[in-house]
Amino acid sequence: MKLIDKFGRTIDYLRISVTDRCNLRCVYCMPEKGVETIPHSEILRYEEILKIVDVAITLGIKKIRVTGGEPLVRKGIIGFLSELSHRKVDFSVTTNGILLGDFADDLKKAGVKRINVSLDTLSEKKFSEITRGGVLKKVINGIVKAKALGFEPLKINAVVLPDTSEEDIKTFIEFAKTNGLVVRFIEHLPFAGYRTNQLVALEKSCKMKYNLIPTDVEGFGPGRHYKMNGATIGFISALTFPFCRKCNRLRLTSDGKLLPCLSSLDFVDVKKAVRNCASDEEIKNLFFEAVKNKPEKHTFENPRDCMAVKSMVGIGG
Ligand code: GTP
Ligand code: 5AD
Ligand code: SF4
Repeated sequence: MKLIDKFGRTIDYLRISVTDRCNLRCVYCMPEKGVETIPHSEILRYEEILKIVDVAITLGIKKIRVTGGEPLVRKGIIGFLSELSHRKVDFSVTTNGILLGDFADDLKKAGVKRINVSLDTLSEKKFSEITRGGVLKKVINGIVKAKALGFEPLKINAVVLPDTSEEDIKTFIEFAKTNGLVVRFIEHLPFAGYRTNQLVALEKSCKMKYNLIPTDVEGFGPGRHYKMNGATIGFISALTFPFCRKCNRLRLTSDGKLLPCLSSLDFVDVKKAVRNCASDEEIKNLFFEAVKNKPEKHTFENPRDCMAVKSMVGIGG
């Protein structure tokens, strides 16, 4: 039995957030102070996640992305990834890159092939402001090391913020060309209360300025991608051009909630089932329930009604 929702979409991609903790505090993701973290006892243990993963694979999940918070801050992450690598599933990791330099070798040994790095600017000053104190150099070192170790493709996710300028985009394009990277500019989703649709204007001006050749690459996620001199750049605008019709995802939060959509308030509690020694059949039924509840499209109109507002950091984008 496969996971097909009532709109005919096949669900074959599971994003797993392994922690709601992070070593950065991006302004659009976390409050400055007083972050409430989920108690350790409520976080799924790795064996519990793997049990869920094994059931998910029997239901046709083909792709898994491990996210956070920041996945590399969770103890034992390399062992967990290594376990995943023994499963018949394409898996990858999204990291903020701060610890990438330290972990790149181990990630390689654990069988990780692809990494996405969240990095919103190449200006040291802006980086420190956006992340509230993060050190850009660490992320750059991590990217360079990962590239040298052969992680391919290596993708950068840059959320476009109100003060992202054309100069920022230009610097990213140069960086991508020099290092053979994919850079994707991401429309900010209005979880932290403000909204900007600057991305579309920036895409337009880039198309006029540079020789961007549209490309449709399998496995490059939602968005519009272009080739230019050794680099690939993409624009993901989930708000302005929603891609919900093609959505193939479910999300598992670090505390064991299965979310049908990034904007849902609805969830199915898999942790409770796993901790009550549920059978594989019972866990399968929870997946079917989540898929049954998958909305036709996201609703970010009223951010207050959205689970991600309460814990974007625990959902992992
Ligand atoms: P690839 O598998 O490399 O294509 O990655 P991905 O795009 O699936 O995952 P990644 O973690 O790199 O996420 C990229 C960005 O796309 C996220 O930061 C989100 O902003 C956006 N995005 C991903 N999934 C969804 C989704 O289901 N809905 C919406 N609205 N945006 C999404
Ligand atoms: N809007 C868009 N993307 C976001 N991310 C985190 N918060 C938001 C938001 N409000 C991104 C991160 C990362 C991905 C997993 O989610 O920058 O690239
Ligand atoms: Fe920044 Fe990602 Fe950490 Fe949120 S989870 S604070 S967006 S690095």
